Amino acid sequence: TREYDFVVVSNRLPVDRVVAADGTESWATSPGGLVTALEPVMRAADGAWVGWAGQPDLKLSPFESGGIHIVPVELSAQDIEDYYEGFSNDTLWPLYHDVIAPPSYHRVWWDSYVDVNRRFAEAAAAVASREGIVWVQDYQLQLVPRMLREIRPDLTIGFFNHIPFPPYGIFSQLPWRTQVVEGLLGADVIGFQRQADASNFSRAVRRLTSHSTRNPVIEVGWERSPTRRVIAKAFPISIDSASFESLAREPRIQRRAREIREALGNPKTVMLGVDRLDYTKGIGHRLKAFGELLADGELAVEDVTLVQVASPSRERVEAYMNLRDEIELTVGRINGDFATMSHQPISYHHQGYPRDEMAALYLAADVLLVTALRDGMNLVAKEYVASRFDEDGVLVLSEFTGASDELKRALLVNPHDIDGLKSTILRAISMPREERRSRMRALRKRVTEHDVARWSQAFIDTLRQAAHDRFERT
Ligand code: G6P
Repeated sequence: TREYDFVVVSNRLPVDRVVAADGTESWATSPGGLVTALEPVMRAADGAWVGWAGQPDLKLSPFESGGIHIVPVELSAQDIEDYYEGFSNDTLWPLYHDVIAPPSYHRVWWDSYVDVNRRFAEAAAAVASREGIVWVQDYQLQLVPRMLREIRPDLTIGFFNHIPFPPYGIFSQLPWRTQVVEGLLGADVIGFQRQADASNFSRAVRRLTSHSTRNPVIEVGWERSPTRRVIAKAFPISIDSASFESLAREPRIQRRAREIREALGNPKTVMLGVDRLDYTKGIGHRLKAFGELLADGELAVEDVTLVQVASPSRERVEAYMNLRDEIELTVGRINGDFATMSHQPISYHHQGYPRDEMAALYLAADVLLVTALRDGMNLVAKEYVASRFDEDGVLVLSEFTGASDELKRALLVNPHDIDGLKSTILRAISMPREERRSRMRALRKRVTEHDVARWSQAFIDTLRQAAHDRFERT
């Protein structure tokens, strides 16, 4: 087997299996920002990607896709239930998002998490070259850094947490909190979305271990091994801004944007929400504010349409099934109460759309509503901004997103404050063109200058520096 100098490890592979009508299988690179950012690095550095193909019991040999070497990790139906749906998405996900939904703690889920993390670590250890770099992604794989270091002490290991890292008062609920922190500390560099996440992590290290912390450096003293330096700091992720802008500039996309507005009956204002159907996204809060504005008579159904794209997510986890019922009941009620024969207040879509359609929707929307109750970053906000080359459109953005640290000239809201949200929506709708332009310009400057390539470059530079320091010192 071949060995690779740069290995990325993530729960989900960046490729989707496509089965054609005649039954032949192929792989399509998924359009996510992470792949886009890492593809050039992968090509330049001889890279491989280790991950799960998204379906149970798929026995696959390593293969090439779009110039990336893919190393599949197999998960059984039981692994998916316990490690993925259970521990990752019914324990860690709600815990790390401020317990918006109650986390469940089950020892069998934890056992499975340990077991699956070990298999990912072994798979990465088997393909990484001597003194190579391995970059582990996200909360599903927090034990991998330490496990990997135990097998391959020669490697330089990075970890990036795409979701929030919670305050200690919340994190400390986790029965396996010390193992998780020590698992992460196997990395040389631990990246977070926001400074606040990095601080929460350092505090957890101080409370749970005896390692000394001097921001951003943690001196890790593990039994029987020399002291190591770990860097824990913020690297806010972004999107491929230029590709969104150039897509939006295509005449066919602009035509499609006009078509969408026409299909909606050419209302004065189109508002848009785009989310995975997840309880962290505050979709219910958004609908409540919108419904009240219609009921109060402050908005008229002929004037305003809310397009809500809610893409299916983690549909076998109970909290997600309940959320879907709740949201669809609310949408049905609002539409039932306020629809006329020619107008519906909410155009609801329980499906995901390709990038082309998303770019057209962004152009068609006068206002984008991001009302997450907690979100690591929120890339939808950045995609909207990147698409608006016309310097128009208003971004309403929750303070509880990582993006709000950077996108300061959005209309920032606390989505729990329904009255505040309602008045912000009205302000967005009636904002004069000059103010829209000046705000969007400032937002665009940030998103254009800080794109995903810059993010991965900053992280990898820090990782290479860590590698350099490590080999200097020994
Ligand atoms: C978030 C997580 C990712 C995850 C994605 C989709 O963005 O940070 O790690 O891949 O949601 O969720 P899924 O469970 O379908 O992979």
